[in-house]
Amino acid sequence: MEAAAAGQGTGFLRVEGVSKRYGQTLAVDDISLSITKNEIFALLGSSGCGKSTLLRMIAGFETPSAGRIVLDGEDMTRVSPHHRPTNMMFQSYALFPHLTVRENVAFGLRQIRPALPRGTIDARVDALLDLVQLRPLATRKPSELSGGQQQRVALARSLAREPKLLLLDEPLSALDKKIRQRTQLELVELIRRVGVTCIMVTHDQEEAMAMADRIGIMSPHGTLLQVGAPGEVYEHPRTRYIAGFVGETNLFEGRFESGRLACPGLPQPLALPAGTATPEGTPAWLSVRPERITLHGSDPGEQAGNRIAGRVGGIAYLGSHSIIQVEIGGGRTVTTDHAAGALAQRTPATGEAVWVAWPPENGVVLTQ
Ligand SMILES: Nc1ncnc2c1ncn2[C@@H]1O[C@H](COP(=O)(O)OP(=O)(O)OP(=O)(O)O)[C@@H](O)[C@H]1O
Ligand SMILES: [Mg+2]
Repeated sequence: MEAAAAGQGTGFLRVEGVSKRYGQTLAVDDISLSITKNEIFALLGSSGCGKSTLLRMIAGFETPSAGRIVLDGEDMTRVSPHHRPTNMMFQSYALFPHLTVRENVAFGLRQIRPALPRGTIDARVDALLDLVQLRPLATRKPSELSGGQQQRVALARSLAREPKLLLLDEPLSALDKKIRQRTQLELVELIRRVGVTCIMVTHDQEEAMAMADRIGIMSPHGTLLQVGAPGEVYEHPRTRYIAGFVGETNLFEGRFESGRLACPGLPQPLALPAGTATPEGTPAWLSVRPERITLHGSDPGEQAGNRIAGRVGGIAYLGSHSIIQVEIGGGRTVTTDHAAGALAQRTPATGEAVWVAWPPENGVVLTQ
């Protein structure tokens, strides 16, 4: 309902009830979405959930089976890709291997402005190469560049067309993790400097959180589940699927009983955040993020909130933080995450008896 409402009104890009069917497959199912000017929006979802299909419909490479796409007040639904003020950067970059960096970028510009004099093209290409910091490599061929440099050429080529809307399909997937994290921030900085509205597709939730103003999370069946700022979807996921997809979480399953959540196998019903509606007997889940749980060598007492005794299972030391798994019986594990120096006592040893605890406000109650 909310997603449908978001599709109306005055968004710079409005996706209105868009679906795409391929034979029996409903790749995109009735998505409505509104994106504001200069926003960086990330579409996030598992492989095959319809992200690329939605992006390709916005770019014009696919025609929706139902719905409308409106950009800056104009209905684009049936407009061909090269008549739309959009530019899509494909996952494979699709650089021309026989052209130099400079020629690749100039190609994007010549496509939209065939009549531009040579000098003007050269000046604009120089400006774009400066923007992506590739001027010193202008005469190289794509095969003589690193993955990150190729990605910047593809980006400069896309920007050369001065799109109103930049569409990026898994822009950083070719890069290894370390370079990727740095490039994420560089790319955001660049997009902001150019001042272009951007929709990017990724299946990497950290990438979406690091780069986007807002994130749209898709279900594996092509529907849009939730749209919100990174902090919003992380702290207030609407469903179990989202809670598990955006970050790590601990899920406790049970039924409401006298204002608490009674979970089979746990000695005590779990206390819930104040104000939670708890219709007696209704099934529900409590999601508690690993970093919201503390670890204690002995019973921390009632004032600690929810507390469960267990034994230390796995310990992963990750430098800036440590992940400690606590086995709480019945084959269940609680995952806890501690910033370096945050453990009140020394790091416990595997097998040691411990308590996990969290205040009721640290949990999020989910009913679907
Ligand atoms: N041209 C096509 N013909 C038939 N089915 C298609 C076509 N393109 C995509 N599909 C199907 O539609 C669904 C969505 O595909 P899509 O490429 O949009 O997924 P995605 O979310 O981008 O996945 P990934 O993260 O793996 O890139 C998949 O089930 C896919 O097999
Ligand atoms: Mg895809």
